[in-house]
Amino acid sequence: MEKLTVQSEFEIYEGLQELPEDIQDLMSLAVETRKNAYAPYSNFKVGAAILLANKEVVVGNNQENASFPSGLCAERVAIYHAGARFPEVRIKAIAITASSDKYVTSAPIPPCGACRQAIAEYEINQESPIPIYFMGAVGKVMKSNSLKGLLPLLFDKNNFI
Ligand code: THU
Repeated sequence: MEKLTVQSEFEIYEGLQELPEDIQDLMSLAVETRKNAYAPYSNFKVGAAILLANKEVVVGNNQENASFPSGLCAERVAIYHAGARFPEVRIKAIAITASSDKYVTSAPIPPCGACRQAIAEYEINQESPIPIYFMGAVGKVMKSNSLKGLLPLLFDKNNFI
């Protein structure tokens, strides 16, 4: 029997102002996008913004539905939006923010497991890490240098192709 230890490292920024300028802009856009989330059932609004290598930025927010499972998270709306508009362009960074008038969202809120798996597909295809920044409505921002840091031992198409 062997043991495998998997470690992930995160950077923690005290606030938006500590981030590099392009990421501040990206996170500010995620905040703006968050405001347009359609979340009447959860009262939990999420916004995501994706910076691409061609300098384009695409956004997404959560879109809920009266049939609850038919809704979609902000991160997947954003990454599929990027895939639909710029299929061959490398993703440089993703910024994510969440807020709620019902729950406390002052700590960084990381993407859910399904969104991590969705983002993984793009990181694997582009063969370079995607830095992911995430925060709540206010306060600290956390950064993972790659999707893999958030989803070790991910399900990878290269395992079965
Ligand atoms: N949500 C996201 O948009 N991203 C996540 O990573 C987790 C959850 C959304 C889904 C749903 O509309 C609401 O937040 C509450 O779960």
